[in-house]
Amino acid sequence: MKSHILLIIALCILESSKNVICGKIPDGTDSVHGEWSQWTNWNKCSAPCGNGVEGRVRNCSSPPQANGGKDCVGKSLEERPCNNGPCAEPAFMVSLKSTMNVYPGVMNWTSVDLNVNEMFDPKTNRVSIKKPGLYFFSMITTSPAKKSIDVMLENTGKNVGLYRRGDLRSEGAETLSRSGLFVLSQLYKPVMKQMTSSMLYSSENGRETSWLGFHYVSDEYLFCGSHRNLQYGTVQWPFVSAMKGFQENSVLSQFKASKSGLYFLNAGMRLGYTTANTQYKAGISINVDRNYNVFQTPLELKGAITSRGLSDTFSRSVLTRLTAGDVLRAEAHRPFSTISPILSGRRIESYMAAFRLNENLPYFQAVSTDSTCREFRRINLKSAIYDSQRSWNSKLHEYNIKKQGIYYIEFTLSKYRTSKVDVRMFLNKQMVAVSAKQSMIDENKHFTRSTLLNLKVNDKIHWENYGCVDSDASVTIICTSAVSQN
Ligand SMILES: *[C@@H]1O[C@H](CO)[C@@H](O)[C@H](O)[C@H]1NC(C)=O
Ligand SMILES: *[C@@H]1O[C@H](CO)[C@@H](O)[C@H](O)[C@H]1NC(C)=O
Repeated sequence: MKSHILLIIALCILESSKNVICGKIPDGTDSVHGEWSQWTNWNKCSAPCGNGVEGRVRNCSSPPQANGGKDCVGKSLEERPCNNGPCAEPAFMVSLKSTMNVYPGVMNWTSVDLNVNEMFDPKTNRVSIKKPGLYFFSMITTSPAKKSIDVMLENTGKNVGLYRRGDLRSEGAETLSRSGLFVLSQLYKPVMKQMTSSMLYSSENGRETSWLGFHYVSDEYLFCGSHRNLQYGTVQWPFVSAMKGFQENSVLSQFKASKSGLYFLNAGMRLGYTTANTQYKAGISINVDRNYNVFQTPLELKGAITSRGLSDTFSRSVLTRLTAGDVLRAEAHRPFSTISPILSGRRIESYMAAFRLNENLPYFQAVSTDSTCREFRRINLKSAIYDSQRSWNSKLHEYNIKKQGIYYIEFTLSKYRTSKVDVRMFLNKQMVAVSAKQSMIDENKHFTRSTLLNLKVNDKIHWENYGCVDSDASVTIICTSAVSQN
């Protein structure tokens, strides 16, 4: 008991030396009521996005309670939610910064333009899948129209290719596109390979040769493909490599949607023709009966083959509202005959892809009705078919970002006449993407360019084009994931 009192006195003297007044306790010793220290700063949020928590602490130490004085009242730990915006889904885009000769092997990308969740590994030039699920990839090449081009996307479960035989009668550059939709786990390491030597065009701002991919959360999707050249009529799909919700009717080569909603549709074709100077059309049709005299389609691909034995390849997207029970089918509009598969092996060169969109994220679909030959001028998208954020400014012909996020942006033009057509995309008046098409034939020909950008509120995008274009230019935009804004 004696020693206890001595200790209290000692503490009290200690505290007195810090100018703290000791109270009286019944046995005659001074007591101290505890007081809180200052709160610390908030500590680091537990997660960069999603649902994080941050905390701060204080101690009952200024002064601590002593000699039977009152303890501090209240909490010593305080917590609050932080970074509770949605997480950005994995996404990447890589490109070439300049024109170069490439050789057979893995593409050596010289610019990593976007890399969410370190999806792309610049050391190996491969993609790592950290989050299993649905992934969309798109390859863009711009190469001399005279020369053949052959690239392949591997390690996705099903190899997909982009092949076009050079046309000696053509001049200038040709932009080709190829996409694919895959369900991937951590076991896959997608990689883009060059199959033959060729020259690929690109520039610092135009990024004419690029590769992109993103994860997308969807409850209904489809990816079916073919390694054969397309035939006249309904396209047959020997491979169905990803499907959820859709029901296949393999006899009719068609797929029935199980859920109503807005869908992202994408089709890619390689068409071969035995007769020179012929136009062709192919596309995705909805609810067309077996007698497909009426070629009704929300997604159309137009092309032309100049020389006997050549083939052409292209892809394109569109947003379309489907009702449960609607049937998707692909049609080739001309009597094609099979030419021997060139270098293709058993890889998918034609395909149809679809997935249902999350309509809480921004989306946009528009077409242009301009049909002109001209110098560089802004493309006027007269008719915005879907514009979830009212983002299209029809006076300035530009798209305004209303929600920060990662955006997939695709534009398609159809050129006509023997002309060179260039399309340029601008972000805040700075050029960010270019595509080009040249052909010696006096016919329509589609070409598509896609990009993936991390965009902020008030960013503005517009497109300009040069050359003779047909009236069905289109722009498709989907936000693949909103980004936390801290
Ligand atoms: C609270 O006390 C602990 C233990 O003495 C100390 O490490 C910490 O820095 C103190 N915190 C504050 C806010 O004073
Ligand atoms: C990538 O770089 C390596 C090493 O320099 C080279 O051997 C290979 O051919 C390059 N790949 C392509 C597609 O050019």
